[in-house]
Amino acid sequence: MTALVDIWVLRITGAALDQGPLSPAERERAARYQRPEDAALSVGGALLVRTIAGRALGVGPAEVRVERVCPQCGGPHGVPRVAGAPYLSVAHCSGSVLVAACAGHQVGVDVEDAARSDIGDVTEQLLAPAERRRGLTASDLLRYWVRKEAVVKATGIGLYADLRTVLVSPPDAAPAVLAYGPDPEQRFALADVELPGVLCSVALLSDPLTDGDLSVTVHDGAELLAR
Ligand SMILES: CC(C)(COP(=O)(O)OP(=O)(O)OC[C@H]1O[C@@H](n2cnc3c(N)ncnc32)[C@H](O)[C@@H]1OP(=O)(O)O)[C@@H](O)C(=O)NCCC(=O)NCCS
Repeated sequence: MTALVDIWVLRITGAALDQGPLSPAERERAARYQRPEDAALSVGGALLVRTIAGRALGVGPAEVRVERVCPQCGGPHGVPRVAGAPYLSVAHCSGSVLVAACAGHQVGVDVEDAARSDIGDVTEQLLAPAERRRGLTASDLLRYWVRKEAVVKATGIGLYADLRTVLVSPPDAAPAVLAYGPDPEQRFALADVELPGVLCSVALLSDPLTDGDLSVTVHDGAELLAR
């Protein structure tokens, strides 16, 4: 059975976003960012999370109870969870925030600016020895990065996982998780998402009932918030 994932993309344009529906913790989190564009990404992500979950629950965004509990320190940050709503995952990159939602499976999304040139030599921390080869471009490394980070975001572990133990198919091959070191029994579905100017991948925790197929639909986040 094909798993369905929806992704809303919100471009931050500089226009003020309505912080009304946000919780005090979410406003505080946004206020901690020094750069206004980072604060806007945080607000935009929180608004999308509330609006997507609220639509699923049939309530307004301000009424949604969003829980964030860090699996490492127990603090109120990390992946947002809303009881009774689809699983959610948030990712930001320069000027855009994305929220992925999937009803049946834990989901992880990651995005990086395609023009990002400061990726440097991340090979040592990113790639397993079996994945290293000559001639990998910055774009190849970014694709490895977003595929692997989508996987560790789907599990909720995030970068506490050693990305070298998460083996994915090479950038020129169809997206697939080949091995997941932290839990070898765990199965995933993985897809790349075509979006202008960025590299984006999405991963799902899957089970024997899903055959690894996933179908992604991209939506306009600004349109969602304007409704
Ligand atoms: C999750 C993580 C991989 C994201 O990395 P990033 O490239 O900086 O940021 P991205 O734009 O891709 O994603 C940010 C979003 O990831 C989500 N997120 C944070 N921790 C997460 C986790 N463990 N699993 C899944 N998603 C997570 C959040 O929703 C966050 O956005 P928000 O705070 O605005 O809601 C990385 O921050 C991480 O591993 N965090 C856990 C470790 C940590 O920082 N702990 C804090 C101290 S205990």
